[in-house]
Amino acid sequence: MYICVCNALNERAVGEAKAAGAIRVSQVFAYFGVAPQCGRCFEAMQAILSPVDGEPAEKSDGGPLCRVAGRRVG
Ligand code: FES
Repeated sequence: MYICVCNALNERAVGEAKAAGAIRVSQVFAYFGVAPQCGRCFEAMQAILSPVDGEPAEKSDGGPLCRVAGRRVG
């Protein structure tokens, strides 16, 4: 199922960005080198990114690795 229709990002894609270290919606977009459009996906995307069982998110060391830029973003 698509989470972000504007950028064709499905649950698997958001999960990939999360596995790479994304903890914010903006970091998912950066990971794929795309930009938010309508914003309708933000809530659903953040729900996927949220930690399980109330555990705090791990501290980011500069954001996820952007596979387009080949460097940390965020
Ligand atoms: S659905 Fe994600 S920006 Fe529009």
